[in-house]
Amino acid sequence: MEGRVDQYAVVGHPVAHSFSPFIHSLFARQTDQSLSYRLMDVPPERFTEQVYEFFASGGRGLNVTLPHKTRALALTHELTERARLAGALNTLVSRRDGTLLGDNTDGAGLVQDLTVNLRVPIRGRRILLIGAGGAARGVIAPLLALEPQRIVIANRTAERAAALAAAFGALGAVQGYGFGELGAQPFDVIINATSASLSGELPGVPVGLFGAHTFCYDMAYGRGDTPFVRWARELGCREAAPGWGMLVEQAAESFRLWRGVRPLTAPVLAALTGRAAASG
Ligand code: ATR
Repeated sequence: MEGRVDQYAVVGHPVAHSFSPFIHSLFARQTDQSLSYRLMDVPPERFTEQVYEFFASGGRGLNVTLPHKTRALALTHELTERARLAGALNTLVSRRDGTLLGDNTDGAGLVQDLTVNLRVPIRGRRILLIGAGGAARGVIAPLLALEPQRIVIANRTAERAAALAAAFGALGAVQGYGFGELGAQPFDVIINATSASLSGELPGVPVGLFGAHTFCYDMAYGRGDTPFVRWARELGCREAAPGWGMLVEQAAESFRLWRGVRPLTAPVLAALTGRAAASG
Protein backbone atom coordinates (compact mmCIF):
# COMPACT_ATOMS: atom_id res chain seq x y z
CA MET A 1 0.00 0.00 0.00
CA GLU A 2 2.90 2.33 -0.63
CA GLY A 3 2.00 5.91 -1.40
CA ARG A 4 -1.40 5.57 0.25
CA VAL A 5 -2.22 7.12 3.59
CA ASP A 6 -3.10 4.70 6.39
CA GLN A 7 -6.69 3.54 6.13
CA TYR A 8 -9.16 3.45 9.03
CA ALA A 9 -12.94 3.11 9.16
CA VAL A 10 -15.93 2.56 11.38
CA VAL A 11 -17.94 -0.52 10.51
CA GLY A 12 -21.61 -0.72 11.51
CA HIS A 13 -25.12 -1.17 10.14
CA PRO A 14 -26.52 1.42 9.81
CA VAL A 15 -23.56 3.75 10.21
CA ALA A 16 -24.36 6.85 8.16
CA HIS A 17 -25.15 8.84 11.33
CA SER A 18 -21.74 8.13 12.90
CA PHE A 19 -19.68 11.07 14.15
CA SER A 20 -16.46 9.00 14.15
CA PRO A 21 -15.09 10.24 10.78
CA PHE A 22 -15.53 13.84 11.96
CA ILE A 23 -13.85 13.13 15.32
CA HIS A 24 -10.91 11.17 13.88
CA SER A 25 -10.26 13.70 11.13
CA LEU A 26 -9.96 16.40 13.82
CA PHE A 27 -7.64 14.15 15.86
CA ALA A 28 -5.48 13.53 12.78
CA ARG A 29 -5.23 17.22 11.95
CA GLN A 30 -4.42 18.15 15.53
CA THR A 31 -1.65 15.53 15.89
CA ASP A 32 -0.32 15.92 12.34
CA GLN A 33 -1.06 12.34 11.41
CA SER A 34 -1.71 11.45 7.82
CA LEU A 35 -4.62 9.02 7.58
CA SER A 36 -8.03 8.48 6.09
CA TYR A 37 -11.10 7.40 8.07
CA ARG A 38 -14.32 6.38 6.38
CA LEU A 39 -17.73 4.83 6.98
CA MET A 40 -18.29 1.14 6.19
CA ASP A 41 -21.94 0.09 6.19
CA VAL A 42 -21.83 -3.71 6.34
CA PRO A 43 -24.76 -6.01 7.16
CA PRO A 44 -24.14 -8.89 9.60
CA GLU A 45 -23.99 -11.58 6.91
CA ARG A 46 -21.10 -9.81 5.17
CA PHE A 47 -19.23 -8.65 8.26
CA THR A 48 -16.45 -11.27 8.44
CA GLU A 49 -15.70 -11.16 4.73
CA GLN A 50 -15.63 -7.35 4.57
CA VAL A 51 -13.43 -6.97 7.63
CA TYR A 52 -10.92 -9.50 6.29
CA GLU A 53 -10.95 -7.73 2.95
CA PHE A 54 -10.37 -4.35 4.61
CA PHE A 55 -7.28 -5.61 6.44
CA ALA A 56 -6.02 -7.71 3.51
CA SER A 57 -5.96 -4.58 1.37
CA GLY A 58 -3.81 -2.72 3.89
CA GLY A 59 -6.36 -1.29 6.37
CA ARG A 60 -4.73 -0.42 9.70
CA GLY A 61 -7.61 -0.21 12.12
CA LEU A 62 -11.38 -0.33 12.53
CA ASN A 63 -13.89 0.97 14.97
CA VAL A 64 -16.69 -1.54 15.33
CA THR A 65 -20.18 -0.41 16.25
CA LEU A 66 -23.71 -1.83 16.42
CA PRO A 67 -24.68 -4.50 15.61
CA HIS A 68 -21.21 -6.06 15.25
CA LYS A 69 -19.50 -5.47 18.61
CA THR A 70 -19.83 -9.04 19.86
CA ARG A 71 -19.53 -10.74 16.49
CA ALA A 72 -16.13 -9.11 15.97
CA LEU A 73 -14.58 -10.97 18.93
CA ALA A 74 -14.22 -14.10 16.82
CA LEU A 75 -12.01 -12.34 14.26
CA THR A 76 -9.25 -11.39 16.69
CA HIS A 77 -6.00 -13.19 17.47
CA GLU A 78 -5.73 -11.46 20.81
CA LEU A 79 -8.14 -9.56 23.04
CA THR A 80 -7.39 -7.03 25.74
CA GLU A 81 -8.64 -7.94 29.20
CA ARG A 82 -11.15 -5.08 29.11
CA ALA A 83 -12.61 -6.30 25.81
CA ARG A 84 -12.85 -9.83 27.19
CA LEU A 85 -14.68 -8.57 30.29
CA ALA A 86 -16.97 -6.37 28.21
CA GLY A 87 -17.85 -9.34 26.01
CA ALA A 88 -17.59 -6.98 23.05
CA LEU A 89 -15.06 -4.83 21.23
CA ASN A 90 -15.15 -1.45 19.55
CA THR A 91 -11.59 -1.29 18.18
CA LEU A 92 -9.55 -3.56 15.90
CA VAL A 93 -5.85 -2.97 15.36
CA SER A 94 -3.85 -4.60 12.59
CA ARG A 95 -0.39 -5.38 13.96
CA ARG A 96 2.89 -5.63 12.08
CA ASP A 97 2.83 -9.44 12.09
CA GLY A 98 -0.59 -9.41 10.44
CA THR A 99 -2.52 -10.42 13.56
CA LEU A 100 -5.60 -8.55 14.80
CA LEU A 101 -5.87 -7.14 18.31
CA GLY A 102 -9.35 -6.44 19.68
CA ASP A 103 -9.93 -3.82 22.35
CA ASN A 104 -12.86 -2.07 23.96
CA THR A 105 -12.34 1.61 24.77
CA ASP A 106 -15.95 2.42 25.71
CA GLY A 107 -15.52 1.94 29.46
CA ALA A 108 -12.29 3.92 29.50
CA GLY A 109 -14.11 6.65 27.56
CA LEU A 110 -16.89 6.86 30.14
CA VAL A 111 -14.45 6.87 33.05
CA GLN A 112 -12.29 9.56 31.44
CA ASP A 113 -15.29 11.78 30.76
CA LEU A 114 -16.77 11.33 34.22
CA THR A 115 -13.63 11.67 36.31
CA VAL A 116 -11.42 14.02 34.26
CA ASN A 117 -13.74 16.18 32.16
CA LEU A 118 -16.69 16.35 34.54
CA ARG A 119 -14.74 15.83 37.79
CA VAL A 120 -17.25 13.41 39.28
CA PRO A 121 -15.76 11.36 42.14
CA ILE A 122 -16.47 7.62 41.97
CA ARG A 123 -14.32 6.24 44.76
CA GLY A 124 -16.46 5.41 47.81
CA ARG A 125 -19.65 6.55 46.04
CA ARG A 126 -22.92 4.71 45.41
CA ILE A 127 -23.44 4.24 41.69
CA LEU A 128 -26.69 3.28 39.97
CA LEU A 129 -26.21 1.83 36.50
CA ILE A 130 -29.50 1.59 34.62
CA GLY A 131 -29.61 -1.09 31.92
CA ALA A 132 -28.15 -4.56 31.54
CA GLY A 133 -27.37 -4.80 27.83
CA GLY A 134 -24.07 -4.52 25.99
CA ALA A 135 -23.63 -0.83 26.80
CA ALA A 136 -23.91 -1.47 30.54
CA ARG A 137 -21.69 -4.53 30.43
CA GLY A 138 -18.84 -2.60 28.82
CA VAL A 139 -18.53 -0.07 31.63
CA ILE A 140 -18.87 -2.19 34.78
CA ALA A 141 -15.25 -3.37 35.14
CA PRO A 142 -13.72 0.08 34.48
CA LEU A 143 -16.12 1.63 37.03
CA LEU A 144 -15.38 -1.05 39.63
CA ALA A 145 -11.67 -0.39 39.16
CA LEU A 146 -12.31 3.10 40.61
CA GLU A 147 -13.52 1.46 43.86
CA PRO A 148 -17.03 2.83 44.29
CA GLN A 149 -18.78 1.83 47.52
CA ARG A 150 -21.01 -0.26 45.28
CA ILE A 151 -22.63 -0.43 41.88
CA VAL A 152 -26.30 -1.28 41.70
CA ILE A 153 -27.40 -2.44 38.24
CA ALA A 154 -31.10 -1.75 37.66
CA ASN A 155 -32.89 -3.22 34.71
CA ARG A 156 -36.47 -3.42 33.43
CA THR A 157 -35.90 -7.19 33.17
CA ALA A 158 -34.62 -8.02 36.67
CA GLU A 159 -33.00 -11.35 35.74
CA ARG A 160 -30.62 -9.67 33.28
CA ALA A 161 -29.45 -7.26 36.00
CA ALA A 162 -28.88 -10.12 38.45
CA ALA A 163 -26.97 -12.16 35.87
CA LEU A 164 -24.75 -9.23 34.96
CA ALA A 165 -24.00 -8.46 38.61
CA ALA A 166 -23.11 -12.11 39.20
CA ALA A 167 -20.71 -12.06 36.23
CA PHE A 168 -18.74 -9.15 37.77
CA GLY A 169 -19.08 -10.10 41.45
CA ALA A 170 -15.42 -11.13 41.71
CA LEU A 171 -14.27 -7.62 40.73
CA GLY A 172 -16.08 -5.62 43.40
CA ALA A 173 -19.37 -4.80 45.13
CA VAL A 174 -22.07 -5.06 42.48
CA GLN A 175 -25.72 -6.09 42.74
CA GLY A 176 -28.52 -6.36 40.22
CA TYR A 177 -32.23 -5.60 40.66
CA GLY A 178 -35.44 -4.90 38.81
CA PHE A 179 -36.83 -1.35 38.82
CA GLY A 180 -39.28 -2.19 41.62
CA GLU A 181 -36.64 -3.48 44.05
CA LEU A 182 -34.39 -0.46 44.43
CA GLY A 183 -35.29 1.06 47.80
CA ALA A 184 -35.56 4.83 48.17
CA GLN A 185 -32.13 6.14 49.11
CA PRO A 186 -30.75 8.55 46.49
CA PHE A 187 -27.57 7.54 44.67
CA ASP A 188 -24.46 9.70 44.27
CA VAL A 189 -24.13 8.95 40.55
CA ILE A 190 -26.77 7.58 38.16
CA ILE A 191 -25.72 6.38 34.71
CA ASN A 192 -28.28 5.59 32.03
CA ALA A 193 -26.99 2.73 29.86
CA THR A 194 -30.38 1.73 28.45
CA SER A 195 -31.36 2.26 24.85
CA ALA A 196 -34.55 4.01 26.06
CA SER A 197 -33.29 7.48 25.04
CA LEU A 198 -32.99 6.32 21.43
CA SER A 199 -36.76 5.95 21.24
CA GLY A 200 -37.45 9.05 23.33
CA GLU A 201 -38.40 6.98 26.39
CA LEU A 202 -37.35 7.07 30.02
CA PRO A 203 -36.33 4.05 32.11
CA GLY A 204 -38.96 3.52 34.82
CA VAL A 205 -36.75 3.81 37.89
CA PRO A 206 -38.25 5.41 41.04
CA VAL A 207 -37.74 9.20 41.23
CA GLY A 208 -36.70 8.89 44.88
CA LEU A 209 -33.31 7.60 43.72
CA PHE A 210 -32.51 11.05 42.28
CA GLY A 211 -31.35 13.43 45.01
CA ALA A 212 -30.25 17.07 44.89
CA HIS A 213 -26.61 15.93 45.13
CA THR A 214 -26.95 13.21 42.45
CA PHE A 215 -24.84 13.48 39.29
CA CYS A 216 -26.63 11.97 36.28
CA TYR A 217 -25.03 10.77 33.06
CA ASP A 218 -26.74 9.53 29.91
CA MET A 219 -24.55 7.35 27.70
CA ALA A 220 -26.82 8.40 24.84
CA TYR A 221 -26.46 11.76 23.07
CA GLY A 222 -28.40 13.72 20.55
CA ARG A 223 -29.30 17.19 19.39
CA GLY A 224 -30.24 19.11 22.53
CA ASP A 225 -30.77 17.33 25.83
CA THR A 226 -31.72 13.67 25.85
CA PRO A 227 -35.01 12.81 27.62
CA PHE A 228 -33.01 11.33 30.52
CA VAL A 229 -30.89 14.47 30.95
CA ARG A 230 -34.02 16.65 30.87
CA TRP A 231 -35.73 14.39 33.40
CA ALA A 232 -32.77 14.43 35.78
CA ARG A 233 -32.70 18.25 35.68
CA GLU A 234 -36.44 18.43 36.29
CA LEU A 235 -35.97 16.19 39.32
CA GLY A 236 -33.50 18.73 40.72
CA CYS A 237 -30.26 16.78 40.32
CA ARG A 238 -27.01 18.69 40.76
CA GLU A 239 -25.90 18.11 37.19
CA ALA A 240 -26.81 15.94 34.21
CA ALA A 241 -24.69 15.31 31.13
CA PRO A 242 -25.27 13.50 27.82
CA GLY A 243 -22.70 11.06 26.41
CA TRP A 244 -20.82 13.29 23.95
CA GLY A 245 -17.72 13.25 26.11
CA MET A 246 -17.72 9.46 26.32
CA LEU A 247 -17.98 9.32 22.53
CA VAL A 248 -14.95 11.58 22.05
CA GLU A 249 -12.92 9.91 24.81
CA GLN A 250 -13.46 6.37 23.52
CA ALA A 251 -12.38 7.63 20.09
CA ALA A 252 -9.25 9.24 21.56
CA GLU A 253 -8.33 5.95 23.21
CA SER A 254 -8.77 4.09 19.88
CA PHE A 255 -6.68 6.74 18.14
CA ARG A 256 -3.93 6.29 20.75
CA LEU A 257 -3.89 2.53 20.16
CA TRP A 258 -3.56 3.02 16.42
CA ARG A 259 -1.20 5.99 16.28
CA GLY A 260 0.66 5.96 19.61
CA VAL A 261 -0.41 9.50 20.44
CA ARG A 262 -3.39 10.62 22.50
CA PRO A 263 -5.08 13.69 21.03
CA LEU A 264 -6.50 16.52 23.13
CA THR A 265 -10.20 15.91 23.46
CA ALA A 266 -11.57 19.25 24.72
CA PRO A 267 -11.39 21.13 21.38
CA VAL A 268 -12.86 18.16 19.53
CA LEU A 269 -15.70 17.82 22.03
CA ALA A 270 -16.46 21.53 21.61
CA ALA A 271 -16.45 21.23 17.81
CA LEU A 272 -18.63 18.13 17.92
CA THR A 273 -21.31 19.52 20.20
CA GLY A 274 -21.29 22.74 18.18
CA ARG A 275 -21.79 20.78 14.98
CA ALA A 276 -24.53 18.61 16.51
CA ALA A 277 -26.37 21.69 17.77
CA ALA A 278 -26.23 23.27 14.34
CA SER A 279 -27.32 20.19 12.36
CA GLY A 280 -30.74 18.71 11.73
P1 ATR B 1 -27.22 -2.15 24.22
O1 ATR B 1 -26.16 -3.00 23.61
O2 ATR B 1 -27.37 -0.79 23.59
O3 ATR B 1 -27.10 -2.07 25.69
P2 ATR B 1 -29.30 -4.12 24.41
O4 ATR B 1 -28.34 -5.19 24.73
O5 ATR B 1 -30.44 -4.38 23.48
O6 ATR B 1 -28.61 -2.85 23.81
O7 ATR B 1 -29.89 -3.57 25.80
C1 ATR B 1 -30.80 -2.52 25.86
C2 ATR B 1 -30.99 -2.13 27.32
O8 ATR B 1 -31.88 -1.02 27.39
C3 ATR B 1 -31.61 -3.23 28.17
O9 ATR B 1 -31.13 -3.09 29.49
C4 ATR B 1 -33.09 -2.89 28.06
O10 ATR B 1 -33.87 -3.41 29.13
P3 ATR B 1 -34.41 -4.95 29.06
O11 ATR B 1 -33.24 -5.83 29.34
O12 ATR B 1 -35.47 -5.04 30.09
O13 ATR B 1 -34.93 -5.11 27.64
C5 ATR B 1 -33.02 -1.40 28.17
N1 ATR B 1 -34.18 -0.67 27.64
C6 ATR B 1 -34.50 -0.45 26.34
N2 ATR B 1 -35.63 0.30 26.26
C7 ATR B 1 -36.02 0.55 27.53
C8 ATR B 1 -37.12 1.28 28.11
N3 ATR B 1 -38.04 1.90 27.35
N4 ATR B 1 -37.21 1.32 29.46
C9 ATR B 1 -36.29 0.71 30.23
N5 ATR B 1 -35.25 0.01 29.75
C10 ATR B 1 -35.11 -0.07 28.42
